[in-house]
Amino acid sequence: MILVVGGSGRLGSSVANRLHRRGLAVCVLSRGLAANPGTLDGGVEVVQGDVRDPASLVAPMEGVDVVVSAIQGFAGRGGVTPQSVDRDGNIHLIDAAERAGADMVMLSVIGASAGSGMELMRMKFAAEQRLRSGSCQWTILRSDAYAETWIGLLEQTAGRSGKPRVFGRGDNPISWVSVEDVAAVVERAVVDNSLRGRVLELCGPEPETLTRLAEMVMAHHGWTGTPKNVPRSMLHLMANTVGRIKPELGRQSRAALAMDTLPTSHDAALRREFPDLPCTPVSQVVARRIVIPE
Ligand SMILES: NC(=O)c1ccc[n+]([C@@H]2O[C@H](COP(=O)([O-])OP(=O)(O)OC[C@H]3O[C@@H](n4cnc5c(N)ncnc54)[C@H](OP(=O)(O)O)[C@@H]3O)[C@@H](O)[C@H]2O)c1
Repeated sequence: MILVVGGSGRLGSSVANRLHRRGLAVCVLSRGLAANPGTLDGGVEVVQGDVRDPASLVAPMEGVDVVVSAIQGFAGRGGVTPQSVDRDGNIHLIDAAERAGADMVMLSVIGASAGSGMELMRMKFAAEQRLRSGSCQWTILRSDAYAETWIGLLEQTAGRSGKPRVFGRGDNPISWVSVEDVAAVVERAVVDNSLRGRVLELCGPEPETLTRLAEMVMAHHGWTGTPKNVPRSMLHLMANTVGRIKPELGRQSRAALAMDTLPTSHDAALRREFPDLPCTPVSQVVARRIVIPE
């Protein structure tokens, strides 16, 4: 049995369906709160649980061979935080997987480190360290920003004006990766034991700035004009005012500031080792979007 924690999310639902279509028994653990839950195949079982509550993980872990952790507490419902979900929630999952004798495939982020300026990256790194020093057989998959997530965000902020918001300078090339490409690697990691003990880093093949991505989204939808910039001074102000009352807004403002300066990632070594892995350019992800006529 494969337990996909976060299997109601964008990546997790794709992973759960892929594994189910391989004929594996798949169970998704969810709090049942997702606003737009990913569509799960009929045969995928769903159990309720919250990674912040270790007791809720005991029963779902029975008979599990591999746990996939596709959770995030950077944004979302239920008062989640990177500390309570990406660090402590993952640690609860690792404890439970160890007791059950299960392997673990954990999603992390490129740039995860103890000294990062971004809380999410520090919390993911702490979970990685706990996994690596424990008794589970593990695989860690770090990836760059998901193309579909950011395209969706640009479409959402464009609203009726047709002018997506670009937070910060938006001039730093980012190697956006398709969530389907990430899901394909997770699927491989679940079924291929030779990937245990490996930290894999995955990104997309076509680095583009956030401004360019916004322009691509506009062109695809037939929106005219230029994207709207939210200047860095405004992001600093938001982080230090409303961000103190609404921590999620503070995190998002700080993340937008960081995205202006993060190094552009490359994954040539992984691609050489696994030439058959899907490698979708971000322009293709945009082109595949469904345009709903006005
Ligand atoms: N999006 C990106 O750009 C990006 C980039 C690099 C790495 N990643 C990593 O990839 C993974 C998947 O990301 P995503 O964007 O696909 O996520 P997503 O769509 O936002 O889904 C997040 C999932 O986390 C689950 N979750 C949150 N808090 C939970 C809790 N307390 N207990 C149990 N489940 C909880 C949610 O389940 P319920 O709400 O149903 O409980 C949901 O299924 C995450 O580990 C993320 O850090 C994402």
